[in-house]
Amino acid sequence: MKRWRVYALLLGLSGTAFLIGCKPAAVGVSGMAGLSCANCHSGNPSSPYALAFLQNEAAYQQSGHYNGTRALNPAPANSYFFKGSHALSNSQIGGGICNKCHTDQGFVTAIASGGNFYAVGAIAVTSALPPGCFTCHNPHVTGNFTPRIVSPVTLLSGGTYNFGLGNLCANCHQARATAVLTLVGTPKSGSGPHHGVQSDFLLGENNWVMPAQSYAGTSPHAMATADSCVSCHKYDPYPRSSTSDLQLGGHGFYLTGVGGGPLAPPVGGSSAKKDVVALCTSCHTSASTTFEGIHPTVPDWAGINGGAPADPLVEIRALRDKLVIYFINTAPKPMSKVATSPWDGSLPVWPTSAIEWTRDFVAGASVTLSLVQAQSYWNLQLYLEDRSKGIHNPVFAAQILYDAIVNLNTNAGAGIVIGATRPS
Ligand code: HEC
Ligand code: HEC
Ligand code: HEC
Ligand code: HEC
Ligand code: HEC
Ligand code: HEC
Repeated sequence: MKRWRVYALLLGLSGTAFLIGCKPAAVGVSGMAGLSCANCHSGNPSSPYALAFLQNEAAYQQSGHYNGTRALNPAPANSYFFKGSHALSNSQIGGGICNKCHTDQGFVTAIASGGNFYAVGAIAVTSALPPGCFTCHNPHVTGNFTPRIVSPVTLLSGGTYNFGLGNLCANCHQARATAVLTLVGTPKSGSGPHHGVQSDFLLGENNWVMPAQSYAGTSPHAMATADSCVSCHKYDPYPRSSTSDLQLGGHGFYLTGVGGGPLAPPVGGSSAKKDVVALCTSCHTSASTTFEGIHPTVPDWAGINGGAPADPLVEIRALRDKLVIYFINTAPKPMSKVATSPWDGSLPVWPTSAIEWTRDFVAGASVTLSLVQAQSYWNLQLYLEDRSKGIHNPVFAAQILYDAIVNLNTNAGAGIVIGATRPS
């Protein structure tokens, strides 16, 4: 049973008086900083944490950490559904090596060992809980909600992630394979960087490096924000007033449209998207109501606008589309078009139409690629698994996709049309 349910049950049955009278073993002797249980365990708005506690708990219950990955459901109307939590038991998530990121207990054990988080091996966990309050906080010992750990993180790919409170997230949200070690011989399409590569992406590394080419490196979005992931994903424009609000920012940590609401194609255009754009316009001066159009135009990197400047995110999306179409149509076809998609599989007309993010294509069964294909496919997968549509590190995203196409054109005769200017 998940922690919040245990807690709700206790409060429901016994009330706060029970909690005050019954000090849990977890409360440390030096902890609590003079707080009483009711400072957190009550809805009293004048208590230091109580209201935030309830709000954050409600938002957390709408989060991917609690429910599992959220995906767009095309039918009957565009809405979100949860693909199911991968943190419910060892067997569901493949065993002990997954636990340090997929379970509460695994993470706490892994960081307690000190040293390099990634190097910590298998951890056995019974009654696995998903990442929750006690994963990121240690309130019964510290008496506050300072994250458990915010020290710099050495990623598997070698870089050091050190951008404020986002370091907490970087422990788990990093790639589980490296380009250097994977891209030898004739790799399988399934041996990509896997899920949650956001830290690598913000650092601008772990891509396939085109010979003699250099890359944008660390994202301005990691450097300009005070706390990287946390500054953006905890951005919280609403008071906690309705169920749908709970899915945006705060302890839901989502920045895509609010669940259930209709989303105009490609994805967005909903009022929730507009609210997230207010985050962007806190730095970028723009009247745009979508992510696309938030930033001044760039050269026509993807060759979709007759050579005229266009929005960077539109260019990035088109570079992605061209790679997706190549990998859907070219043997051994590591990607496939979703049968129910309204898209006919041909080139979209840019910049107005595009292949939809989670609905129109999927990775197919793992097949053996030529080394050239695997190099380009890795960059596409790194981009897709980052899941920010390039926003986490826009120029880096454009460069790795652009180079992936140049590589296929030069070394595999792909003949994909792109712009003359490499993104920079
Ligand atoms: C600084 C805030 C804070 C204070 C003070 C605090 N708690 Fe908690 N407590 C929490 C949080 C956060 C949770 C996790 C709630 C959840 O999972 O949704 C929790 C959970 C619990 C649970 C559920 C069982 C568990 O371990 O998950 C019990 C019981 C509990 N607290 C008792 C107490 C008692 C008794 C006191 C006073 C001695 C106290 N707490 C003081 C923050 C606090
Ligand atoms: C203990 C490891 C861990 C930490 C720490 C962590 N995450 Fe996660 N996160 C996960 C896992 C595992 C999932 C996927 C859960 C699933 O699909 O079952 C996830 C999912 C998410 C999702 C939802 C993705 C979706 O598709 O629904 C977001 C957003 C997210 N994390 C952001 C963050 C942010 C921001 C932080 C830092 C404040 C953070 N995470 C810290 C492990 C972690
Ligand atoms: C994935 C990590 C993560 C999880 C899970 C998580 N928190 Fe937080 N929480 C954070 C971060 C990061 C902050 C910001 C800390 C700061 O600003 O110093 C925060 C801040 C808070 C605060 C301070 C007020 C605020 O909103 O900034 C409270 C209270 C809080 N969390 C309660 C909870 C409770 C209750 C749960 C479980 C229902 C929970 N948190 C689960 C990461 C997490
Ligand atoms: C270094 C931390 C880490 C390790 C180790 C890890 N994962 Fe994950 N995993 C994550 C994060 C973070 C996410 C969420 C990524 C996102 O939403 O972008 C995730 C997501 C997933 C998903 C959901 C993907 C989807 O789209 O539905 C599956 C399935 C999964 N992991 C399986 C596993 C298995 C099996 C293992 C062990 C063999 C494992 N993971 C080990 C961090 C990790
Ligand atoms: C500049 C703000 C910003 C920063 C910094 C940032 N993100 Fe994001 N992230 C976004 C936006 C915006 C999206 C959603 C793009 C879309 O789907 O339209 C996103 C998407 C995601 C997603 C996919 C699920 C979702 O919410 O749509 C995950 C998981 C994620 N980010 C995790 C992270 C992690 C982990 C970090 C730090 C290592 C991080 N992000 C840093 C803005 C940011
Ligand atoms: C904390 C400030 C900050 C926030 C918030 C922020 N940005 Fe940025 N962004 C920057 C800086 C600084 C740069 C690098 C200088 C530049 O290109 O304007 C940048 C660059 C970009 C670029 C790169 C374009 C290029 O070709 O160089 C795009 C696209 C972009 N931001 C979009 C967004 C979007 C979309 C959001 C909201 C999800 C967002 N930004 C939020 C500060 C921010």
